[in-house]
Amino acid sequence: MISRKKIALVGAGQIGGTMALVLAQKGLGDVVLIDIPQTEGMPKGKALDIMEGRSVINSSVNLTGSTDYADLAGADVVIVTAGVPRKPGMSRDDLLGINCGVIKTVGEAIKQHAPEAFVIVITNPLDAMVYNMQKVTGFPSNRVVGMAGVLDSSRLACFVAMELGVSADDVKAIVMGGHGDTMVSLYECVSVGGIPLPQLMDRETFDRIAARTANAGGEIVELLVRGSAFYSPGLSAIKMAEAYLLDKKSVLTCAVMLNGEYGVNGLYCGVPVIIGGNGVEKIFEVKMTESEQAAFDKSVEAVKKNAEWVDANT
Ligand code: APR
Repeated sequence: MISRKKIALVGAGQIGGTMALVLAQKGLGDVVLIDIPQTEGMPKGKALDIMEGRSVINSSVNLTGSTDYADLAGADVVIVTAGVPRKPGMSRDDLLGINCGVIKTVGEAIKQHAPEAFVIVITNPLDAMVYNMQKVTGFPSNRVVGMAGVLDSSRLACFVAMELGVSADDVKAIVMGGHGDTMVSLYECVSVGGIPLPQLMDRETFDRIAARTANAGGEIVELLVRGSAFYSPGLSAIKMAEAYLLDKKSVLTCAVMLNGEYGVNGLYCGVPVIIGGNGVEKIFEVKMTESEQAAFDKSVEAVKKNAEWVDANT
């Protein structure tokens, strides 16, 4: 029997709702939005709202809402945003304690109900939460990834495109390391329609743009006041889900478990990888300059500190 793919979104808040809409538009599979019982009809309401718009967008996927983790059953992909977002003045690390417990609950539910799923974590602080998810589920690390690098790279590409007055569509970039203030933007890896960025932009301008990229999430938090970015994080996670579901072999920067690559062992960190039907299929080791390598090492230290916190508190 031919059956559609199933995508479960755990956390039906701002990012969860955005992803449900994008999935319906792309027709990638049926969607279930899952949240906690305290949200009452919210997941069902969002699912029904999008269902009612399908005729407009020529979509035939089914969307349902639930407050029962048992509805994870049969999911091919699970995308997790469960937890709380930050408020103005907070860093992602301030969410460590509260979101760690949420990931434990959700991870146990995924392990029980969707043991074969490809799991994408978005909850912050990202590198520590995806590390915790892999630990709780015990899934092979090629099936548990974190969404951060796709977003950070897209933010850098956006700012480069704005500065040069070119289409964002033509800019490709890599932002590596942890998903925090220490993330590393790679100057020589930016391509503008195939032209290496150093031919088009001086280092000083790039450094200013890289600094804005590292603070881009905070910039949105300050503007929104009640929550953090949700459109671009949602789009980024769907790009990763699509690469898996369609076996695209896409080269995307994701938080993955490093086992010796970049001299890092047993930690989740953002690096360029291939995502295809087997999940994380290959990790690329990009050549960095001395100063980029030093910045990456510093970022790894920050990631390690949070992972140690997870180990000590779970
Ligand atoms: N199980 C399922 N859902 C949960 C759980 C849980 N144990 N705990 C919380 N949630 C739900 C909340 O009820 C809420 O609806 O997760 C949802 C989170 O949605 P928002 O508060 O709107 O947050 P959002 O902007 O979507 O961000 C979610 O992603 O980028 C990160 O920092 C951000 O950690 C945050 C997460």
